[in-house]
Amino acid sequence: MSLCKRRGFIFPGSDVYGGFAGTWDYGPLGVILKKKIMDEWWHFFVETRDDIVGVDAAILMNPKTWEASGHTATFADPLVECKECKSRFRADKIAKGITESVTTEEFLATHTKCPVCGKENWGPIRKFNMMFLTHVGAVLPDDDADLAAKNIAYLRPETAQGIFTNFKNVVDSVYPTIPFGIAQQGKAFRNEISPRDFILRDRECSQMEIEYFVHPNTWEENFDKLLKLNHEFLEKVCNLPAEKLHDYDVPAADRAHYSKRTIDFMFDYPNGQEELMGLAYRTDFDLQNIARESGKSMEYRDKVTGETFVPHVIEPSIGVERLFLAVLSAAYKEEELEDGDKRIVLKLPENLAPYRFCVSPLLKNKPELVEKAKEVYAKLREKYTFVTWDDSGNIGKRYRKQDEIGTPKCIVIDFDTLQDDTVTVRNRDTTKQIRVKIEEL
Ligand code: GAP
Repeated sequence: MSLCKRRGFIFPGSDVYGGFAGTWDYGPLGVILKKKIMDEWWHFFVETRDDIVGVDAAILMNPKTWEASGHTATFADPLVECKECKSRFRADKIAKGITESVTTEEFLATHTKCPVCGKENWGPIRKFNMMFLTHVGAVLPDDDADLAAKNIAYLRPETAQGIFTNFKNVVDSVYPTIPFGIAQQGKAFRNEISPRDFILRDRECSQMEIEYFVHPNTWEENFDKLLKLNHEFLEKVCNLPAEKLHDYDVPAADRAHYSKRTIDFMFDYPNGQEELMGLAYRTDFDLQNIARESGKSMEYRDKVTGETFVPHVIEPSIGVERLFLAVLSAAYKEEELEDGDKRIVLKLPENLAPYRFCVSPLLKNKPELVEKAKEVYAKLREKYTFVTWDDSGNIGKRYRKQDEIGTPKCIVIDFDTLQDDTVTVRNRDTTKQIRVKIEEL
C-alpha cells in the first residue's frame, strides 16, 4: 500500500478530505497498469475471438432490471450490530467457520466478541441490501414519499445485467452463432458493510464479465472450456503463478441465488486466500426472468438445426481491482543485491509494466548527453509508447525508482554513446547491464 501511494499507483479516495471508505483513486502509474489489464482482457476475450462480442451499457438501468434479476429481494449480506457500542459488521467476516447464509443462532453459537468493544452482546442478524439507491429526475428532498419512491433507481451492482438486457438487441442486430458470448467492462457499485483489505473489497469497483450463451445440453463442456481459458488468461497473460491460484467448487448453500455450479478462482493474496474471480453456470435464470418481466421473447433460433430455445449461460466474472492486486502482489519482491544493497522491485510482465523502457542521460548537466538521450527517447516512444524519461538524482537512485515501478529496461546514454552509438541496457530482474547499438534497441 505504501509503495502504491509513494509511486503514484493508488491513492485513498478523497484523500485530501480524510478519505471515503471503500473508494480508491488511481494515480498516473496505476491508471496505466489498470488500463493495460483491462485492454489485455478485452484483447484476449473479445478482439481475438470470433465467438465473443462486446457491449457498453448504461450504469443506471430501469429498476425492473433488479426486480427481475432478484437483486432487490436477495442481494444482501448478513448485518449484525453490537448492542453495547452500536458498531455494525458483516457477520461472516468477524466470526470463523460460518458463511453468508448464517442464521442468528449459528452466529451466536460462535461466541464472537465485538472487534470494537470486546463485549459479546449481539442483536439479530439482518439482511442488508447492498445496492446503492438514488433518485432519477427532478425529485427534491421535500417531495412527497410516493413521488420519491416512483423515481428510485440503483447504481448497478454488477455489469452482467447490462448484458442480459441487451441479449435480444445483440441477437437481432448481429445474430451470432451459438455458442457465443457478450462481454462488458465497467463500474459496479456495492454498499459493502465493511470494505477492507485495500482494494479487495470496494464500494465502487470495476468488473469484466462475459455472459456466454450456450445450448442447455452443452453447458458442461462450455463451462470447462471457459475454466481453461480463464486460467490461460491469468497465468499466461497476467503472469500469475499457477501455484497461487486455486479452484474452489462452491457448495450449493453458498452459491449465488442464480447459480447451479460456481467455481471461485481463489488467489493467495498477501493477507491470505481470497476470491479473485468467479465462473458461474447461471442456467436460463436471467433470460427467463427478463422474458417474464418484459413480455418479450428471449428465444434463440439455431442457425443449423432450426431449433428454438432460451439459451443457458456460463459467466466468468472478474473484478479489475482484485486482478490488479493479484498482479501487483505476485510481482512485488524485496531483494538483497550482490553488493548488500536492498531493493524493492516489481517484476511485472513486459505487457503490463506501466513503462517498458526508461531513458536517461548519464549526467543531466552535459548537454551533449541530454541531446542524444532525448533522440533515443523520442525514437523509442514512437515505437513503444510506454517509455519514460528520468534524469533526476544519480543513476543508482533512478534504477531503484524504476525497479519500484516495474520498468523492465533502463537505457543510459553515456560518453561512449557519443563515440560508437551504443547504450547501456540494464535488466530490471537480473540487474545486469549490456551494451546495445541504438538501432538494435
Ligand atoms: N455477475 C456476477 C457477479 O457479480 P460476484 O461474485 O458478486 O458475481 C464477481 O462478483 C467478481 O467481482 C468477484 O469475483 C470480484 O472479483 C469482483 N467483486 C465483487 N464485489 C467486489 C467488491 N466489493 N470490490 C472489488 N471487487 C469485487
